[in-house]
Amino acid sequence: MESPFDVLSVAPDADEEEIKEAYRERIKEAHPDHGGSAREFQLVRAAYEEIKNGDAAVDGEADGGDGGITGEAADGEAREPEREEPRRTQRCRVEYLNYEVLDDHGWDIDDEDLFEEAANGGLDREDYGQFWVRPRESLLEAAERHGFAWPFACRGGACANCAIIILEGEMRTRVDHVLPPEMLDKGFQLSCNGMPVSDELQVLYNVKHMPELEELLLPPRPWEQAHDD
Ligand code: FES
Repeated sequence: MESPFDVLSVAPDADEEEIKEAYRERIKEAHPDHGGSAREFQLVRAAYEEIKNGDAAVDGEADGGDGGITGEAADGEAREPEREEPRRTQRCRVEYLNYEVLDDHGWDIDDEDLFEEAANGGLDREDYGQFWVRPRESLLEAAERHGFAWPFACRGGACANCAIIILEGEMRTRVDHVLPPEMLDKGFQLSCNGMPVSDELQVLYNVKHMPELEELLLPPRPWEQAHDD
């Protein structure tokens, strides 16, 4: 997967001016009016924000330098993994789309080019865009770190308020007491404690209004309350 530095075509040790300069160049090239695309434009912008906020680690340093779960102990003996599941050491790039805008645009979840249409649909950044998820960060935590108010209630796997649908990529949920197997098969997952296991994800968020989730929702709903004010 391209790192944010690769996206901007700058060295990881580039200074602020070089990064700004590279961003200005790349964002021009990526603009749909100059031969780019809305999707590429979003990607360049997300890369710049990631670097600017100090969140973009150089490949291999992305998990905070604790070295993951395997390796050699100081005495040279191989250690057993501390966890059964491998930890990711790389960020995951997420392309997201708000389920609530589908109807307004006449789009359907099964549209093959749904995300292409969304990328070219002139949507607000709240409704469509891309961001990076850090290793060991849940999808919901990453969305919040980027300033988005995605829905949730319990944050503990006991409701479907934070549900998303994965359309591309893979995510593993640590605690899920609520989604039945048939919904998991359709791509439903919980964003509050789900962590990406692929380099890239395409997700529909805010799917809690789907009829099949109605009985699995839990009041109170802080996201709705905040947005109803
Ligand atoms: S917020 Fe309840 S399971 Fe995620």
